[in-house]
Amino acid sequence: MTTTATGMFRHSKPTAGGGLLAISDKDFFRLRALIHERFGIYLSDAKKLLVQGRLNKEIRAAGHESFAAYVADLERTKDAEKMLGLIDRISTNHSFFFREADHFDLLVETILPDLLRNGVEPRELRIWSAGAADGQEAYTIAMVLHERFGARVGGRRPVILATDISVSSLGRAVQGVYPEAVLTSVPVRYRGHLVPAGAERVRISDEIRKMVMFKRLNLNRPHYPFKNRFHVVFCRNVMIYFDRATRNEVVERFGLHTLPGGYLLIGHSESLGRDVAAYRYLRPTVYQRYR
Ligand SMILES: C[S@@+](CC[C@H](N)C(=O)[O-])C[C@H]1O[C@@H](n2cnc3c(N)ncnc32)[C@H](O)[C@@H]1O
Repeated sequence: MTTTATGMFRHSKPTAGGGLLAISDKDFFRLRALIHERFGIYLSDAKKLLVQGRLNKEIRAAGHESFAAYVADLERTKDAEKMLGLIDRISTNHSFFFREADHFDLLVETILPDLLRNGVEPRELRIWSAGAADGQEAYTIAMVLHERFGARVGGRRPVILATDISVSSLGRAVQGVYPEAVLTSVPVRYRGHLVPAGAERVRISDEIRKMVMFKRLNLNRPHYPFKNRFHVVFCRNVMIYFDRATRNEVVERFGLHTLPGGYLLIGHSESLGRDVAAYRYLRPTVYQRYR
């Protein structure tokens, strides 16, 4: 394979004998456009080698011998199922329990009391973890609700929905089994909710597990299939992969699915600016939908 001075590969050459397939600039740009169109994820030039490394297996498994053939196939068929394997390899599913923990304090100390004071309607308290990765965020929400309020929050049944585009992440989330090392980020008083599951693994307790529902959802689709709106939406460390236009569209859709007075929480390294779509800026990373 030939490389330029900057280390960029010149041609999408198949390699003999099952070696590493290289991606050309042209094929990278085509693939980038497809990923952006479908998932709203924007891959910078710096991601080229990462894409090349991560997709080699995927391409061979799909029966192709070059990036050019793989990309052409995706462009031709626009087959969403084929693209799920791709997005599974490209997306970053890193997460951990009690990540950006001040949000969970804010949830139980401020947000939920405010919602309860102003009358949570309807009977369910609905919280959405959008871009839930392996489920750590949704299970953290369930643990703090359970510890603070018990089985019901102000008489309402809590429903936590966890969605993600990644099939493999959702599979791990549903299983709720993690390496024992995850306990290091879990405050001691919550550790009882992660029970030993053999071979240095822990499992989410049934009590917590049943508070969370899982669903595959691409946030970059024009409509979300929810009948009922949410009181709180967590979308943290997800929109950072979207370009500005996609981010704005996603937040606009969140607005349609948040109850008046409900909240949107974004990641600590993310920013939407002030007064976005249906939300009023309260403080960095915290927005409230206009009533
Ligand atoms: C870095 S993880 C964040 C997990 C968790 N919210 C947190 O803050 O720890 C980002 C997640 O967003 C998901 N994601 C990326 N693009 C998406 C899209 N278009 N629709 C739904 N989920 C997406 C990825 O699959 C990944 O699991």
